[in-house]
Amino acid sequence: MEQLTTVDTVHEEGSWLFTVSDRFGDEEEVILVPCEDGVEAWVNRCTHESQRFDTGRGAPIRNGQIVCPRHGSMFDSCSGHCDNGEAANTTLPAVDITVHTDGTVFLTDDDVTFAHEGGIDDDDDPDSTSHISL
Ligand code: FES
Repeated sequence: MEQLTTVDTVHEEGSWLFTVSDRFGDEEEVILVPCEDGVEAWVNRCTHESQRFDTGRGAPIRNGQIVCPRHGSMFDSCSGHCDNGEAANTTLPAVDITVHTDGTVFLTDDDVTFAHEGGIDDDDDPDSTSHISL
């Protein structure tokens, strides 16, 4: 069980991106997003054309909906469901998390392990500004 962040941090920052790896070592990005007073975790990839929601600057969220930056479909941040646009009638794959009473968020999904905070490509020191990808 890996400690991720806190509910307060997700609500303050709007979303919280991290990377997990599955049993084959394949990496996948996950976003924590605010849902009412808590948080939910969804794969950081639109069901339509695999567009990332959070491309490194936070996921676009409007009125409790995650907005796909490519074609604008909106996914309910609590249910992961989309009923509009190109991604209509799909639901984002969920990742299991557990929130403790003190607001700490833990990754509790048996299928994946925590790799690092941030996206797949930013596995260096998140505070480093010297990392330039071409
Ligand atoms: S890629 Fe997200 S709606 Fe098309």
